[in-house]
Amino acid sequence: MGEWREATVSGLTSRDADLREPQAVQRAVRETGPDWIVLSAAYTDVDGCESNRDLAFAVNRDGAVNVAVAAREAGARLLFLSSDYVFDGSKRTPYEIDDVRNPQSVYGTSKAEAEVRLLELMPACCIVRTSWLFGAGGKCFPDTILKLAETRPTLNVVDDQRGCPTYVVDLARAIVQLCRKNSAGIVHVTNAGNCTWFDFAEQIVKQSERKTNVLPVSSEQMARPAPRPAYSVLSPARLQALGIEMPSWADALRRYLEQRQG
Ligand SMILES: NC(=O)c1ccc[n+]([C@@H]2O[C@H](COP(=O)([O-])OP(=O)(O)OC[C@H]3O[C@@H](n4cnc5c(N)ncnc54)[C@H](OP(=O)(O)O)[C@@H]3O)[C@@H](O)[C@H]2O)c1
Repeated sequence: MGEWREATVSGLTSRDADLREPQAVQRAVRETGPDWIVLSAAYTDVDGCESNRDLAFAVNRDGAVNVAVAAREAGARLLFLSSDYVFDGSKRTPYEIDDVRNPQSVYGTSKAEAEVRLLELMPACCIVRTSWLFGAGGKCFPDTILKLAETRPTLNVVDDQRGCPTYVVDLARAIVQLCRKNSAGIVHVTNAGNCTWFDFAEQIVKQSERKTNVLPVSSEQMARPAPRPAYSVLSPARLQALGIEMPSWADALRRYLEQRQG
């Protein structure tokens, strides 16, 4: 990406090192000799984590610790991707960086415990909490809605979970700036504004000029194995204090849909 100009970027994958294997992680870090490690790899299947608890903690918590240990040995800085799911969702005003963690799911607990361990091991590490990611290169909510809209005249979408959609391109830009500013501690990085999944789906259908009707339903009607926070809006106060502003989620969606078309 343009933002990493004048930097050498090595994109490592699970084929280069399994986070659960400390020696493989150490070797990968030693071989690349980075100034910064951006740890975005994780076991991200939120419902799968409920039935694969051991795997969730082995990858998301212990794997992150393995990376922190290797980073410390190599004298590298670490930026760790965390989640809005570290909160219970009981607030009705944006979560600040120092609000108490109280995760309700196994995935959220594995991320919350990783945060605590990393800050103990490496107080200068940077923890970026983000939420509701969308973008090219994987499964994401806008793609799912557009696919369903091809065949279904009506879509039921939950209207009692509020959060911040985040375009991975905007997140990546903010991460580069955080590294360049040598940031440490917890930072919330999401697109600006907030909405429910229902609002998000309506906006996807509207912006892409589809005819599908979107209907609001409750989380109870769409029961899933892992509980989701009812409210997980993350306050941008710390990000703004660092001089970084994020575009609105609706603008980010427009840019994503444009690049998706072609
Ligand atoms: N998606 C969201 O809405 C969201 C919200 C908040 C925070 N986050 C955080 O943001 C980060 C990126 O999320 P994402 O949804 O973009 O992730 P993703 O698409 O699910 O990708 C996760 C990556 O982690 C790799 N991985 C899994 N287990 C691994 C292991 N044991 N060793 C090495 N690599 C492993 C996977 O590699 P393979 O495919 O080869 O297995 C995959 O490339 C994660 O840390 C996630 O917790 C995501």
